[in-house]
Amino acid sequence: MNNSNNINDAFKGWSDKSYNRGRHLVERDITTLGWATPFYPDNSIPEHVLNATVSGLKNHGSSYLLPEGDLRLREAIASRLKKFNNLDVNSHKEILVTPGSNAGLYYAVKPFIKPGANDEVLIPDPSYTGNFLSVRLNGGIPVSVPLHASDGFQLDVGEFEKKLTPNTKMIILSNPNNPTTTVHKRENILSLCRLCVEKDLIMVVDHSFEDIIFDSRELLTIASVEEMWERTITVFSLSKGMGLSGYRIGYLVACEELMSIYHRFAVNILGPVNTAASYGAKAALEDYAFVDFYRKIFERRREVAFKMISQIPGVDCLFPESGYMLWVNISKLGTSDEIVKYLIDDARVIVNPGTEYGACGEGYIRIIYGAFKDDEKIYSILERIKESLKKLAFKKGII
Ligand SMILES: Cc1ncc(COP(=O)(O)O)c(C=O)c1O
Repeated sequence: MNNSNNINDAFKGWSDKSYNRGRHLVERDITTLGWATPFYPDNSIPEHVLNATVSGLKNHGSSYLLPEGDLRLREAIASRLKKFNNLDVNSHKEILVTPGSNAGLYYAVKPFIKPGANDEVLIPDPSYTGNFLSVRLNGGIPVSVPLHASDGFQLDVGEFEKKLTPNTKMIILSNPNNPTTTVHKRENILSLCRLCVEKDLIMVVDHSFEDIIFDSRELLTIASVEEMWERTITVFSLSKGMGLSGYRIGYLVACEELMSIYHRFAVNILGPVNTAASYGAKAALEDYAFVDFYRKIFERRREVAFKMISQIPGVDCLFPESGYMLWVNISKLGTSDEIVKYLIDDARVIVNPGTEYGACGEGYIRIIYGAFKDDEKIYSILERIKESLKKLAFKKGII
């Protein structure tokens, strides 16, 4: 069947290998540090969020909400956008609640790609898999723009300029970036915004990790930059910093004109998100002190995890700027795939191969240190990784 071949083509090179591997191996009691959701597999719903969810279920659970999102939830989102993102948005007309940010990314891209027209989208590489996939699945061509370890994987407008063609339609990026954890600097963002305006490009920005940023780094919301509001779609999620990935709640923010297209998708395709989850999400957005608590946990773990993995001979690790993951250069020990397989066999741990995040991720692995509630548990798993990789380094004569 032709259609299924198209979908297979879209996924080619961006396989869900590690997801499948994870699913089967976890059943064989192999630990996964490959899923970016806080405390996985432990449950971590804050009490007030749980109570709001249960009462939402009891009182309203059997009915649909508005397809574009319950208005009270959108109002809670709007006040958060004002406080954290310097955005003053109309909660009726400029927000769409989505079932997670993956769906948000997919629909954000959709109106700007004409299948078969060779529309190109510039995407920093390495960056989140969904950035590349959402373009391919919509019939566009993802174009990798390399990021470099030498400057901490910051955006470099010169690299974007090199990849421009008459077919370039948009840019997609994640800020903070997953997997590198980079929080993009104001001056680099502003240069990229100037390019966007000059070349009349659309910008899609994924803010999924905005809650977990360390060392008071500034997160500049691109939609708040002059001349960017009308051409920027921002994608948010409650899965990452808030640890509510099971709720499947995210949101898109864009100007009224663009949002009217997305609202049509909501009415005709997506439908409203789960009613009880929507009530819980509103409680989380209104009382978010727990996010600071989580950030402190990850800040503490980041020191220990970084120190542990950096001690391995031949391995280079970036000190994380955000999130709860390490981006680790293992190229002296093997390819990304080889090391992932080796760690499954030798340490009984699953991590992500860097190539899941673009071709420039070759030679890297991503390790989630945000898993499990118990610090000691995660440290003992990291110790297993450390000992395994030390053994490999010794075999390769690196010690
Ligand atoms: C950067 C980034 N964006 C989006 C997502 C999708 O998350 P969700 O669909 O749960 O919001 C992920 C998940 O790993 C991610 O890492």
